[in-house]
Amino acid sequence: MSTVSTSSNRPYHIIVFGATGFTGQFVVEEVARTCCEGPGGTLKWAVAGRSRQRLEKVLLQTAETLSKPQLKSVEIIVADVAEPESLAIMCKQGVIVLNCVGPYRFYGEPVVKACIENGAHYIDICGEPQFLEGMQLSYHSKAQENGVYIIGSCGFDSIPADMGILYTRDQFKGALTAVESFLTVSTGPEGGCGHDATWQSAIYGFADSSRLRSLRKKFGHKPLPVVGSRLKKRGPLFFSNEIEQYAVPFMGSDASVVRRTQRYLYEEHEQSPIQYAAYTGVGGVCSVVKMLFAGMMFWLLVKFSIGRSLLVQFPELFSFGLFSKNGPSKKQIFLCVPEDHSKPNHDVFPDGGNLFLHDILWRRLRRRSGPLAGQTQCQDHHPN
Ligand SMILES: NC(=O)c1ccc[n+]([C@@H]2O[C@H](COP(=O)([O-])OP(=O)(O)OC[C@H]3O[C@@H](n4cnc5c(N)ncnc54)[C@H](OP(=O)(O)O)[C@@H]3O)[C@@H](O)[C@H]2O)c1
Repeated sequence: MSTVSTSSNRPYHIIVFGATGFTGQFVVEEVARTCCEGPGGTLKWAVAGRSRQRLEKVLLQTAETLSKPQLKSVEIIVADVAEPESLAIMCKQGVIVLNCVGPYRFYGEPVVKACIENGAHYIDICGEPQFLEGMQLSYHSKAQENGVYIIGSCGFDSIPADMGILYTRDQFKGALTAVESFLTVSTGPEGGCGHDATWQSAIYGFADSSRLRSLRKKFGHKPLPVVGSRLKKRGPLFFSNEIEQYAVPFMGSDASVVRRTQRYLYEEHEQSPIQYAAYTGVGGVCSVVKMLFAGMMFWLLVKFSIGRSLLVQFPELFSFGLFSKNGPSKKQIFLCVPEDHSKPNHDVFPDGGNLFLHDILWRRLRRRSGPLAGQTQCQDHHPN
C-alpha cells in the first residue's frame, strides 16, 4: 500500500465526495472535527460534489455548527459521476476518497474505477451486497495491481457486525465458532426514521436480488468449513427470546460483509471461520401485522417498474413512516440508539462457542462513539 502522505500533485489526504448529501454533511462535520487531531499533525482535506454552490453552503453550515470559521476556506472540487474526467481529476488529488454518493448501484462504479485508475484509496458507506460483491468481482485484480484499497460498508452497515465479531472473538474465552446479532433500535420522544436514499437502495436491491445469486456463483467459492456445531437458521419470522420480541433476518449487507472477511481470514491467514447470522427486532404482534402488510405490498410493488416508482415517490406511505424524503432530524438522530439488552453473561452462550453479539457489541459501540446515527444503519476492513 502506498503511504498516506500528500504531495504537490496529490494535495489532500481525504476528499469527501457527495458532501452535500444527507450523510455526506455528517461526514464533513466528522472530518472537520477530527482532521486536526492525533499525533503527527493535520490532515489536509477537501469536499467534492456536483454543485459548488451547495458545497459552499455545507461548509458554511459546518463552520457555524462547529464554530470554526476557517472551514469556509476548505477547498472545493466539482465532480459529477456522469463525467468521468471530472472524477479522474478529483481522484488524482486525494490519497483517500470517502464516497458518500449513493445509491451505489447507480453511482458507485465510476468512482471505484476512477480511484483505481488514478491511485486513490476508496472508502464508502454502501449497504448493498450486489454492489460490494460486484465491485470485488470486477475490480479486485486491477486494484491489487495498482496498490489501491477499495473498502466498502464503513458505516452502520457493516462496521458493528464485521469489527464486532473480531472484537468478540478476541474477548471470548475459548474458540468463537458462531455469532448471531440482533438489532433493535429505540427512538426518543421525537420518533425516528431513515433517509430516502437508503429506502431507494433497499427497493432496487430487493428488486434485483436474483442477480446477487448469479454473481455469487461467478466467484466459484467452495463453502467455508463449519467449525463447532452448525449455526441453525431461524425462520423468516420468529419470536426471539434474546430480545423478547419478534424478529426477522436483517436485510442489509452485514452477512455478506462478514462472510467475505471470514473467507479472507480463513484463506489468507488460516484462521478458523466464524459462522454468522444477522436479525433485526420487529416488536410485538401489532408491529408484526403492520410489517406483514407493508412487506406484502413492498414485495408486490417492487417487482414492477411502476410499482418501484410509486415506492420511490412515497417512502413515508409505503414504509409506514420508517423512511422519509427528509430523513431524521438531528434531534431524532441523537436520541435514537441501538438498545443494550442485558449484561454480558456467559450463561447465554450455548454450546461452547456460539454467542449473541448484540450485548457486548452495543456496549462497546456506545462507549466508543456515543449514540449512533438514527439512520441506524456502514465493511470490509481489509484489502479486497
Ligand atoms: N451503511 C450505512 O450505514 C449508511 C448510512 C447512511 C447512508 N448510507 C448510504 O449512503 C448513500 C447516500 O445516502 P444519503 O442519505 O446521504 O443520500 P442523499 O442525501 O440523497 O445524498 C446523495 C449525494 O449524492 C450526490 N449525487 C447524486 N448524484 C450525483 C452525481 N451524478 N454526481 C455527483 N454527486 C451526486 C448528491 O449531490 P447533490 O447534492 O448535488 O444532489 C448528494 O451529495 C445511500 O446509498 C445510502 O443507502 C449508508
